[in-house]
Amino acid sequence: MAPDVLALHGGVPVRSSPWPPWPEADDATERAVQAVLHGGRWAVSAPSTGRPSAERTFAEAFATYHGVPRCVATDHGSSALVLALEALGVGPGDTVIVPVLTWIATATAVLRVGATPVFVDVDARTGCISVAEVQAAIDRRTRAIVVVHLHCVMADMDALPAVAARHGIPLVEDCAQACGSSWRGRKAGTIGVLGAFSMQHGKVLTCGEGGAVLTHDSAVADRLEQLRADSRRYTPETPPAGQMELVIAGNVMGTNRCLSEIHAAVLLDQLRRLDQQLDRREANATLLAEELAHVQGAELLTRPDAMDRQSFYECAIRVDTAAFGGASVGTVAQAVQAELGLAVYPPDAPLNVSPHYRPATNPRYAAVAGPLPARRFDTAAAFRDSTILFHHRALLGGVGEIEAIVNAVDRVQRNADSLVG
Ligand SMILES: Cc1ncc(COP(=O)(O)O)c(C=O)c1O
Repeated sequence: MAPDVLALHGGVPVRSSPWPPWPEADDATERAVQAVLHGGRWAVSAPSTGRPSAERTFAEAFATYHGVPRCVATDHGSSALVLALEALGVGPGDTVIVPVLTWIATATAVLRVGATPVFVDVDARTGCISVAEVQAAIDRRTRAIVVVHLHCVMADMDALPAVAARHGIPLVEDCAQACGSSWRGRKAGTIGVLGAFSMQHGKVLTCGEGGAVLTHDSAVADRLEQLRADSRRYTPETPPAGQMELVIAGNVMGTNRCLSEIHAAVLLDQLRRLDQQLDRREANATLLAEELAHVQGAELLTRPDAMDRQSFYECAIRVDTAAFGGASVGTVAQAVQAELGLAVYPPDAPLNVSPHYRPATNPRYAAVAGPLPARRFDTAAAFRDSTILFHHRALLGGVGEIEAIVNAVDRVQRNADSLVG
């Protein structure tokens, strides 16, 4: 029998047809954007047209979707995190506990409010922040805990709120990667005091660049509104045409992180599609988990039992590298990518060793960051070294796409000797 040559080494790839597009846009999206373009108002900070602004309409719709009273829309997910911390009054002299395995913005948000991030290790099963590590890290300077629901699972939202409550420390949920997930019937972003979201291009609800913060707490929401609009608030009702919808309140000094009307209109269009896209991904992921069970050394990241809905930002496959001839996850990812014509990659490096996290290179951050932690984060390193990821758009297709992913991983596993030889 002719040898099976991996696509990485010049063989015929498992799949060469295109993957489902992301983001999804159609005539309705175009009409929504056109309406703003020709509607005479591109920013919430512009005079009212007499109709509700798209920004406020989206914020209300996003709050309703989550079953919480208040949402403040923002220009980026990073801003949403900064605002969440500012709204809690976190600042110089404070520390904030963050997981060492996350996108850099979770940590830079802490630096941007003048506080110091304290990195903690993650849970070996989920890759999300470890409850025991949070408990051990809390001290008298701790002003907030940021949990990150990473890739496609949620942090332990039974234990973490209980720890936070016991110590009287607010819990912020970084839901950039978890929009739509839920834990015992409560959606990600509604369990902590604040939930911060990103609507950047790759996220499951996107307008290119955008964000939002959710809260049940109306006093916190009032601060958030002002913090994101140069100390201005919405008027109670939509004002008549020509008048301003943002009016000076001045209870707390903010900066401008408002979402543009064009972006907000895209989000309103995309929000209508969210649930059916979540369902499509979840059904495909279930199939993927079943099929991967037949592949040696690979399985889908285990979904915590308490998650009753799983939103996939990046689909995570755990890889036993011993079953792949001892190849690194970087090499396994490259080989699977070559089979699929789809980006496949390991998680970002833990922040303590990440080239992204270099506060010493910026005087503003250097002043507050403190030295890089001397300790090791073995669980995060091990999780990173045994996981490969791909973007959720690959879960928006059908059975053919799932079979291709399974066949690609299987083929790479069966020919793993050629990866290390
Ligand atoms: C976990 C996490 N937090 C925060 C952010 C920041 O969001 P944005 O890129 O919208 O600023 C991201 C973006 O990828 C993220 O993944």
